[in-house]
Amino acid sequence: MGYQPISGKIIILGITGSIASYKSVDLASKLTQLGAEVDVILTEAATKFINPLTFQSVTGRQAYTDQDLWGDKAHILHVNLTKDADMLCIAPITANTIAKLAHGFCNDLLSISALAIGTGKDSIPVIIAPAMDGNMFDHEATQHNLNILIKRGYHITGPAMGHLASGLIAQGRMSEPIIILDKIRYLLSRTGPLRRKKIVVTAGGTREPIDPVRVITNLSSGKQGVAIAQSALDYGADVVLISPPLDLSIPNDVVHKIAQTAQEMQDAVLEETKNADVLIMAAAVADFRPKSYKTQKIKNKIKPLILELEPTPDILTLVSKRKQSSGTPRVTIGFAAETNDLLKNAQKKLNEKKLDMIIANDVSAVNAGFSVDTNKVSIIPAHGAVEHLPLMQKAEVADIIIQKVIDKLKETTNKSDKS
Ligand code: PMT
Repeated sequence: MGYQPISGKIIILGITGSIASYKSVDLASKLTQLGAEVDVILTEAATKFINPLTFQSVTGRQAYTDQDLWGDKAHILHVNLTKDADMLCIAPITANTIAKLAHGFCNDLLSISALAIGTGKDSIPVIIAPAMDGNMFDHEATQHNLNILIKRGYHITGPAMGHLASGLIAQGRMSEPIIILDKIRYLLSRTGPLRRKKIVVTAGGTREPIDPVRVITNLSSGKQGVAIAQSALDYGADVVLISPPLDLSIPNDVVHKIAQTAQEMQDAVLEETKNADVLIMAAAVADFRPKSYKTQKIKNKIKPLILELEPTPDILTLVSKRKQSSGTPRVTIGFAAETNDLLKNAQKKLNEKKLDMIIANDVSAVNAGFSVDTNKVSIIPAHGAVEHLPLMQKAEVADIIIQKVIDKLKETTNKSDKS
């Protein structure tokens, strides 16, 4: 399902001598499950902590050690291993291997392979996940060596603060496999069809304050918007997500801007779409907000309480108005959350807000709309046929929307090429 940046890729996973190496078995397994071919190279020290067979068992491929470098099939093994690779990830990486890579030492299979991939803009991405004791990580020598690697374009993830093998609580724990996986997924997606495109996505329900302890909000969880952000990222886009704080994990490489109220969302959307290619508004923005904010908690003795509400400005309409003069963003997409007359109401919003497309969201359908993991939508383009989708995972809906975005961007590029 969807665009899978990891699927079909060849990833060299380097393992060096650290107790954190046991966590990398999970990383190797997850990468394999996502369709990557994972070639594991263990240093001599790594084999003291973990067995190559452990990795072979989860990857289904040979795991290499220095014995292979010196063995009878060793002829240019490092070149053969690296020539078709899409990425080198060394997790965990020790202070010793960091120092070797920084200064070009290559006296084992892992360091010689790291050198064989070359440097410069055409070489493959390298991720390293340091793991060591806190003082070793803080040491001037390690920091100096890491800076050399950063300048060379290496991507460093972690180390995290936490309990270390020495008993110290310090910065030195290897990043969790899920965080390394997220980084691998992001870096491998950078050549996707949306590369260098900026996509702004909104998600979640805004919160309009009544007094210091009360807000008017709605049931939007942000799931649909976050799924769209993840899908856009996977297709290679630079993604900005604008939402209130969400109870969801947001991909690390999405730029997340917090906007609590409709006003804050409006300000953030207008700012971020100045140079964006696409805006997708999946947020449930409050249509009304309290006319005045009470600075002190309203006493519960006031009965009945009458709140005066005023309409909020329509963000999509403001963006479309600006687009008429600036042409930016090239594609604007809204959602219409409806409980009745779905297509008629959605079509009206598409026309009034002058959108390129609206996603008519049947929020009265079972397991669709707010908070759940599935959704049922119809896609209504400004020009062209309506597409009715069955109930599906929000990630699948997101993927279909992003494919429409890719088509729409191609269409607008072709038009501007002709004019
Ligand atoms: O977050 P989840 O729990 O996953 O739920 C997903 C969802 C149901 C919230 C989502 O799929 C959805 O339908 N979002 C739109 C909800 C909504 O506010 O619809 P609307 O019909 O009221 O608004 C129409 C469009 O105008 C929306 O794109 C909305 O973001 C935008 N709008 C609304 C009000 C406003 N002041 N400015 C706007 O730009």
